[in-house]
Amino acid sequence: MKGKIILLSSIVLATVGISAYAGPEQDRVAFQKFFHDKFPRTPKADFINGIYSIDAASREQWLEIEEFPPYEIAIEEGEELFNTSFKNGKSYADCFENDGKNSRKNYPYFDPKRAEVVTLELAINDCRVANGEEPLKYAKGKLAAISAYLSFVSRGERINVVIPDNAGALQAYENGKEFYYRKRGQLNFSCFDCHGAASGQRVRADRLSPALGHVSHFPVYRSKWGGMGTLHRRFKGCNEQVRAKGLNPQSQAYKELEYFLSYMSNGLEFNGPGARK
Ligand code: HEC
Repeated sequence: MKGKIILLSSIVLATVGISAYAGPEQDRVAFQKFFHDKFPRTPKADFINGIYSIDAASREQWLEIEEFPPYEIAIEEGEELFNTSFKNGKSYADCFENDGKNSRKNYPYFDPKRAEVVTLELAINDCRVANGEEPLKYAKGKLAAISAYLSFVSRGERINVVIPDNAGALQAYENGKEFYYRKRGQLNFSCFDCHGAASGQRVRADRLSPALGHVSHFPVYRSKWGGMGTLHRRFKGCNEQVRAKGLNPQSQAYKELEYFLSYMSNGLEFNGPGARK
């Protein structure tokens, strides 16, 4: 009987193409189950919509905003930047296959040679630097616009982080996980305290979104920012909210956090860019 179960589960793993490591995969199943059980009325595929997947009242307003999406200008700007040649005559299309279409799903990934997690934003800057251009700032602006464009032309692709058979990759995952569950700041809250245990509850004017699907829709246009911001800009804001020190976007810790969180959302669709309050 036991052998049968193991065989079955390895078939399932092979079919959906996810890592066979027991650790992360067990984590992911438990993580997703937690949210499916907590919000049984939310269709599983709908967690990509953050708070709007569980809060009917704010969903209405958001759907109205989506009719004239405030991130549209960023997509256009990003497209133009993407198609503008660098000084050496090359362009982003030389770094991203298929003119960037559907490239969002390739990130984040662990590069064993570099021994680090490579995010989409990092890859955009790597492309610039390899072609003799200055790197862009990571939190907003042009980089967020290019990321918005690449996310837009990758909508509908699924999150599919594969952890390679590499000690460094597993360590990066474990670091991200540790960061996620560690309590910090004067308020002594972990990410999961707010976006897991307390998700759905109100904090001042906000209702807390579930962590499942958190990475699917970035970058976002936030009214509070009056513009676009990357996922790491949001990480930093959330760190500072509990009066902990925010880290730099694309710091090792945030890249590993993104790696862990993305793995937790494996199977969900990318639907960025998004619009948020
Ligand atoms: C004190 C509670 C609190 C803690 C702790 C917290 N956040 Fe948040 N977070 C919020 C609130 C409030 C919002 C805005 C409403 C929402 O979407 O949940 C938010 C929004 C987000 C979003 C955007 C959601 C979306 O759909 O666009 C992400 C991503 C996020 N937080 C990640 C994190 C991560 C990662 C950590 C840990 C480093 C963390 N948060 C810690 C309160 C918190």
